[in-house]
Amino acid sequence: MSTYQPVKKVTTHTLQEMKNRNEKISMLTGYDFSMAKIIDKAGVDVILVGDSASNIMAGHETTLPITLEQMIYHASSVVRAVTRSLVVVDLPFGSYQGNSKEALSSAIRIMKESGAHAVKMEGGQEIIESVKRILTAGIPVMGHLGLTPQSIYKFGTYVVRAKEEEEAIRLKEDAKLLEEAGCFSVVLEKIPAALASEVAKLVQIPIIGIGAGNGVDGQVLVVHDMLGINNEFNPRFLRKYNNLHDQMLSSFKQYISDVKSVDFPNEKEQY
Ligand code: KIV
Repeated sequence: MSTYQPVKKVTTHTLQEMKNRNEKISMLTGYDFSMAKIIDKAGVDVILVGDSASNIMAGHETTLPITLEQMIYHASSVVRAVTRSLVVVDLPFGSYQGNSKEALSSAIRIMKESGAHAVKMEGGQEIIESVKRILTAGIPVMGHLGLTPQSIYKFGTYVVRAKEEEEAIRLKEDAKLLEEAGCFSVVLEKIPAALASEVAKLVQIPIIGIGAGNGVDGQVLVVHDMLGINNEFNPRFLRKYNNLHDQMLSSFKQYISDVKSVDFPNEKEQY
């Protein structure tokens, strides 16, 4: 008799079941094969191929410059590494805001060329037609409200969003609209914890927070930030689980010293 046990893959339905039984959802960003392999092995539920790759991987100041082709490259590297996690990919700036036809063709390219499982889009009412059209094609969509980095030049700053009542009301309406359209989940970024908790109760779908407190259904962090690779980004919401910046720096320095002193390679490290 075979002992083969197929890996139980996380689906959008798994996430809904987790919310229903009050089990929190873990999500991290991932941009490359090697890191995604470790994240998946650890058991993280969702890997987000975020357009934060524009900052983290390419060194741009904002998420705006990253292209659809570059997102597909990152997403396909992640998909090749994953056995269990749900892989969600950001539709990059400029690939969906034009019209719903363009949005659908961008989403189809991501799904077809990377093998990912879902897409994420920033915005509410203003993108609802595109969200609906993508959903009609059978592509699961995750929403993203609050601080939406693709609109940084409209906001002018990365400060906490929806502190004023008018914006908080609009955010709740947008969350409801995204749920009614058929989104399987929504990310809430950098908004007051009380508001995020209210939204998580208002809608039935899972709400994943980043800088949105613990009254939501799950959390997401940028992997390089939580590993402390990038030591120049220290917002209040970020918990650092390591200080890889210092560990990597000292490893590189040690390597330089070993090469210069001809300590490396030694007898056992050569043929
Ligand atoms: O691109 C990204 O990394 C994101 C997360 C911050 C949610 O959208």
